[in-house]
Amino acid sequence: MTPREAADLLLAGRPRVPAVAAAEAYAPANIALAKYWGKRDEALNLPTAPSLSVSLGPLGSHVRLSAAEPGAAHDGVSLNGAPLGPETAFARRASAWLDLVRPDPDFRFELQARNTVPTAAGFASSASGFAALAKAADALFGWNLPMESLSVLARLGSGSAARSLADGFVEWRAGERADGMDSFGVPLPERWPSLRVGACVLSSREKPVGSREGMRRSVSSCPFYGGWPGLVARDLAALRSAIANRDMALLGATAEANCLAMHALMLATRPPILYALPETLGTVRAVWAAREEGVPVWFTMDAGPNVKLLFEEAAEPAVRSRFPGATVVAPFA
Ligand code: PMV
Repeated sequence: MTPREAADLLLAGRPRVPAVAAAEAYAPANIALAKYWGKRDEALNLPTAPSLSVSLGPLGSHVRLSAAEPGAAHDGVSLNGAPLGPETAFARRASAWLDLVRPDPDFRFELQARNTVPTAAGFASSASGFAALAKAADALFGWNLPMESLSVLARLGSGSAARSLADGFVEWRAGERADGMDSFGVPLPERWPSLRVGACVLSSREKPVGSREGMRRSVSSCPFYGGWPGLVARDLAALRSAIANRDMALLGATAEANCLAMHALMLATRPPILYALPETLGTVRAVWAAREEGVPVWFTMDAGPNVKLLFEEAAEPAVRSRFPGATVVAPFA
């Protein structure tokens, strides 16, 4: 099934012409505590395993979507106030997603995206961007889709975007259906106001291998990829229990171990994928040293060299003094 076919299935019976002149939407970025690494369907971004994240509240993407003037040659796309050419990577990805909902091939959109995720803060903005785009399209066309369907639409842009439709903790169900209609993000009811996430930016260089290519490579060549779904299932159970009991040590230890297992998959992939820089390992060791000295702080990392810290409000002064460059977010504030 192609992404357009999946979108058509989802939008069957819904209006395909704009209901309002313009629509605005916001979605938060998210950071995974149990990671997504590997697809069972590459076109539809269907994962081999579920994942669980926490949304980053005020750090995310605002999107404004409207119809362009008739006759426009391409979608008009701007990012943080700067117009982007149609051949830029951002505009191409945005237009490829807009193709899924385009009323007819000559219809052009006007899209303004603004990120409150600081571009250099080390948090990905693609998840919040596609989630906000799905919400804005829903409002523009007057679909009134449920959150699950918006999550499916956002997933067609970027897998992790499936988790950015809601605040707080979100579990992305892997699903079993070939059309992916059962693969969407489900928010957990628990809130954890004292939880903090810190981002340590160690490098803003372009990553050597993108997540799409990296996942493809790991699924096909990592000799122990087959163990990943089972490991995620165990980590998810531990994370659910940690969240239900506000058990920071269990949440931190599980997130840290899960992230290291993902990076182990990457290392054992052929050819290998190594995102860590010397500074990354230095920060990892500094987190371990802090814990040994009684500071309750854990880390997680994604497909890049930057390190994210996980801790509670009470540890914030100690964490800030040890990691002065960290951008700290309160996801439930
Ligand atoms: O959604 P993508 O294709 O950007 O993949 C994200 C993959 C990781 O960030 C490494 C893990 C995750 O679950 O967010």
